Amino acid sequence: MEDLQLRDRNVLVTGASSGLGLEMARQLARDHHAHPILVARRRDKLEALAKELEGFGVRPKVIVADMTKPADVERTIAEATAEPLHAAILNAGVTYFGKTVEHPVEDIASLVATNVTSVIHLTQRLVPYLLERNEQGALMLVSSLASLQPMPFQAVYGGSKAFVTSYGVALAEELREHDISLTTFCPGGIATEMMDGAGLSTKYPKGHPMIMDVEDCAARALWAMRVRKVMHVPGVLNALAALGATIAPRQLVARLVANDYRGALPKDGAK
Ligand SMILES: NC(=O)c1ccc[n+]([C@@H]2O[C@H](COP(=O)([O-])OP(=O)(O)OC[C@H]3O[C@@H](n4cnc5c(N)ncnc54)[C@H](OP(=O)(O)O)[C@@H]3O)[C@@H](O)[C@H]2O)c1
Repeated sequence: MEDLQLRDRNVLVTGASSGLGLEMARQLARDHHAHPILVARRRDKLEALAKELEGFGVRPKVIVADMTKPADVERTIAEATAEPLHAAILNAGVTYFGKTVEHPVEDIASLVATNVTSVIHLTQRLVPYLLERNEQGALMLVSSLASLQPMPFQAVYGGSKAFVTSYGVALAEELREHDISLTTFCPGGIATEMMDGAGLSTKYPKGHPMIMDVEDCAARALWAMRVRKVMHVPGVLNALAALGATIAPRQLVARLVANDYRGALPKDGAK
């Protein structure tokens, strides 16, 4: 299969109102002249981005939708495929940081709905669509380095991303004989709202060796999708961490992650 063509193609990006999704949408428009379809809950952010992207001579589209709601996911698919859709980046995601069992069960359900259920829903509907179009389209699932190791104090988040990586890589193999590609992207830490919201950006600030700039990370993600990588961990340090996490005993990896994270917990955090 040829590298993915993006010029003048419509590309869906979920979670486009901030962070990695916003930057991938920006680079799709600015560097590849693709027409991004921007999905998230915050209309004002999406509309401001759409206005900026119009300046690159492309036609962005805004879909305000909540990925925890199956009806919104269906509407996203309908609106995104109203015109030919060539590729989709399933990037919307949420996390938390702290003692997992103290985290409200409603928030856990919402995390699973966003990070897992909506990804399955979109993938199961978009793969047959892209196959039927027969135009060598592509799908990319944004997972995480956290998918490769147990994540104490982010146990449900790590589990949700472990699902995404397992599902994405397995499905890519099922699709190997077909004319579409499915890439699973596994970044390590990125300087975005997610790190701020989880209270992790003090311990892991922008410029920390394990924290990638969002611009760099977005460029690496789009490269991985364009060259149709099945799975990609961006950056040498992240690749080494992934290798270590894969070969070391899981309990040891969990202990090392927990020891590192304990320093970032609130003062009354886990002992
Ligand atoms: N930051 C990191 O260190 C890191 C590391 C590895 C992987 N990742 C992954 O990268 C992806 C992007 O994260 P980020 O760092 O860019 O975080 P971010 O800046 O917090 O962006 C998350 C995006 O997801 C959207 N979103 C969240 N819940 C949603 C919902 N229910 N419905 C629709 N959209 C929703 C948010 O938009 P609204 O709030 O407007 O809905 C926002 O656009 C996530 O899948 C994350 O797990 C991040």
